Amino acid sequence: MGDVPFPEPPAFPPSNAEPSASLHWLQNQVMQHHRRFEKSIPLIASENLVSPRAAEMFCSDLHNRYAEGLPGSRYYEGNADYDPIETHVEDLAKRLFKSPFADVRPVSGTSANISALFAISKPGDVFMAPELAAGAHISTQRFGAAGLRGLQTMTYPSIPETMSIDTQLAVEMIGREKPNVCYVGQSVFLFPVELDSIIEAAREVNATIMYDAAHVLGLIGGGCFQDPIGDGVDLLCASTHKTFAGPQHGIILANEDRELNNGKRLHRAIRSSVFPGVHSNHHLHNVAALGVSLAEAQEFQVDYAKQMISNAKALGESLWNRGMKVFAADQGFTESHTLLVDVSGFGGGAEVSLRAESCGLVMNKNMLPGDTSAINPSGIRIGSPEMTRLGMKEDEMDEVAELIHLSAVGESDSEVRQRARILKEQFNRIHYCWPTESSAYDAPKFSPFN
Ligand SMILES: Cc1ncc(COP(=O)(O)O)c(C=O)c1O
Repeated sequence: MGDVPFPEPPAFPPSNAEPSASLHWLQNQVMQHHRRFEKSIPLIASENLVSPRAAEMFCSDLHNRYAEGLPGSRYYEGNADYDPIETHVEDLAKRLFKSPFADVRPVSGTSANISALFAISKPGDVFMAPELAAGAHISTQRFGAAGLRGLQTMTYPSIPETMSIDTQLAVEMIGREKPNVCYVGQSVFLFPVELDSIIEAAREVNATIMYDAAHVLGLIGGGCFQDPIGDGVDLLCASTHKTFAGPQHGIILANEDRELNNGKRLHRAIRSSVFPGVHSNHHLHNVAALGVSLAEAQEFQVDYAKQMISNAKALGESLWNRGMKVFAADQGFTESHTLLVDVSGFGGGAEVSLRAESCGLVMNKNMLPGDTSAINPSGIRIGSPEMTRLGMKEDEMDEVAELIHLSAVGESDSEVRQRARILKEQFNRIHYCWPTESSAYDAPKFSPFN
């Protein structure tokens, strides 16, 4: 029999409707979104569920306030109670990531990256990063933050089979081209970077080393991936809502203070580029929520990070056994939360991910090495953070792989949708955090409107 399709959105309220028609339309869409996620298997590598106790901070009055500057030296009054919060959250971040410095004001991974680039470089500098088709983020490219800063972008040679930097060739390139900034980190981040060699080569030419941990911050916090700050990178930028299941926000960590090749001191340069450079206000409710997530991570992150990686590996194996071309089979598919699959034989990434969505499997299309179109690429990217957060383990990965495969080959949508829903119904609580009564996709309680 199977399940009926997810409903189409209702028509927009007409322009001559009562203003409250928009309120009702918006509330309906949010409820519909919640109902879809309740029934779907979430497989986006960059998404996660913030804990209920961290989410409680979103509705605090902090959401309504400004706090430009640093604790104790603000441009606004009203921060007497907030200032110690920010100081404590920075301390929690320094403790978890064993970092001498933390700035918790960036509002996203991208705003952290832009702030970092303004701190550590100047227009015309040579900036080296992985290539887009090897999993780099747009902020590292000419048309992203790096270009906005006026940097000359160069890309490291990569190993297409593993979506990794070819370290040996990269080291030679760093020696030859003498970049001002060596950036590492990816949006398809399957394996740790061989940091020792890159850091040594970068030091030889006095380049600043920036690590983008947007995807792998939670794996680093759980001690399961690599330890960039301990290994000696200058600074680390990240989102706080991917494998680190915090609020949608950003963070910059940095190593011991030192003078950079642009003549600035590292810590001071970060402080002033975050504010007044790139941000004005920095979303104080999210800083408080980040504090809760950091505290929870002290207790749960090791187990959570291990399980994310184990689940991703198990899912890779199960997909491979069904004939799907998962990258890096010889290397165990992944050492992170992410898998990359070549689905050109199933109609390509765009077709496969759209079909999957209609079956209740939420993933994204992704470029593979050699692809030129990000709109119509050959691959899909699959991640384990959210389903792991819901308590799924290796045993469930085989059923998830079966559903992904059935949807890719075009089996009955309604049956796949039904099996996805039945599996999902058993996993509706958020794990690896202090428990509450709430379910993972509880919809907001809207006030009655007459
Ligand atoms: C490697 C990398 N850096 C930065 C970002 C940007 O993070 P945000 O979405 O928080 O701006 C992403 C986002 O997916 C990413 O993958």
